[in-house]
Amino acid sequence: MEFTRMAPECGVEVSGVSLANCSDSEMESIKQAIYEHGVAVFREQEFSPEDHIKFGRRWGGIDVNNYFPLQDDFNEIAVVKKDPDQQTNIGGAWHTDHSYDQIPAMGSVLVARHLPPQGGDTMWAHMGAAYDALPDDMKARIDELEAFHTADHVYKEDGLYAQTDMGKSLRGQNLKTGAVHPVVIRHPHTGRKLLYVNTAFTINFVGQTREESLPLLTELTNAALTETNQCRLQWKPGTVAIWDNRTSWHNAMNDYQGHYREMHRITLSGEALAA
Ligand code: OGA
Ligand code: MN
Repeated sequence: MEFTRMAPECGVEVSGVSLANCSDSEMESIKQAIYEHGVAVFREQEFSPEDHIKFGRRWGGIDVNNYFPLQDDFNEIAVVKKDPDQQTNIGGAWHTDHSYDQIPAMGSVLVARHLPPQGGDTMWAHMGAAYDALPDDMKARIDELEAFHTADHVYKEDGLYAQTDMGKSLRGQNLKTGAVHPVVIRHPHTGRKLLYVNTAFTINFVGQTREESLPLLTELTNAALTETNQCRLQWKPGTVAIWDNRTSWHNAMNDYQGHYREMHRITLSGEALAA
């Protein structure tokens, strides 16, 4: 296997391995690469829905997403799609998946199934590099903080998606979510300190109102999104990306209006987070 960085701080492209048939030691190296780099990209994979599910179970379990439509024949696969006549995409803002769960998903395995003729890239940003680059006084300010996360405002009946033409494609409008996590977590496997707030699901710092929290949340978001912290993936048929929701944020570009895009996602089960 060969590992090539995609950008100075974020992402790695892995060649010389077939995800569907990798050995246990290859699987271990892949996991370490994803924990460390935040996202790994695999090209020219033959990866059927059965392979996708098998891979997720082998990694350590699958969390089924409560909001996205599920693949008809394979209910553990969430379908992330946008029709040619839809304006709004899924995941089109910086976020990390499932941070609103008490035990957030470890990561996601996203497979390109139908791509627009151009555009539809995905970006990631590295939250270890983001934390490291903060000034010491900011680190001291956030090291002991906790924050509240929920998805309710995004998916509820009159929520953010419901106000767009993506609303009708989603499920779970009545669910109630909420979880408190440290603002700075330690990666369960690498031990690296990571910034763990995100603009999509983090509402407030514990002990502060939303209004009191917003300036610091915005400051942290802006500090996290430097160009060198980010990487960008141009999908091709056969591309699979696997990311770590603790190490990275991601953002789906919505620059292919009038074209169909369909991705298949399996969400990998995670573990409780600690400072
Ligand atoms: C997701 C997501 C990104 C994309 O599946 O969680 O944000 O590029 N998708 O479709
Ligand atoms: Mn996402």
